[in-house]
Amino acid sequence: MATRTTKNGSSTKDNMDAAALLKADHRAVEELFEKYEATRGSATKAKLAQQICLELTIHATIEEEIFYPAVRGEVDDDMMDEAYVEHDGAKVLIAELMEGDVGDDFYDAKVKVLSEEIRHHVKEEEGRGGIFA
Ligand SMILES: [Fe+2]
Ligand SMILES: [Fe+2]
Repeated sequence: MATRTTKNGSSTKDNMDAAALLKADHRAVEELFEKYEATRGSATKAKLAQQICLELTIHATIEEEIFYPAVRGEVDDDMMDEAYVEHDGAKVLIAELMEGDVGDDFYDAKVKVLSEEIRHHVKEEEGRGGIFA
């Protein structure tokens, strides 16, 4: 593939490779959310929730520190800003889940709402005209 250097010095090919890896993360975490919903045992749910939180935290860090800055200027500014704000919203729930325990009031609800927020966010990243497009 012909490469072109963006304003930020990353090549379009690098950005596309990174997007493919980040999309694979999205699929992995969607699967974890599905597993959580299908699981009844507290120990397994706790493990899944921890894994979801860890994977989302690493993923968001890579996007915020590497990927988003690399595509800034190529993507609609408002959409980029909203993506950062959506990350911040998710971090609040992630922090609550990491501090809490399966079985706490609202624990399952928090996992569910986090999954819905992530679904919306991923749609904006991967959708037509989205950050990954
Ligand atoms: Fe994101
Ligand atoms: Fe993402």
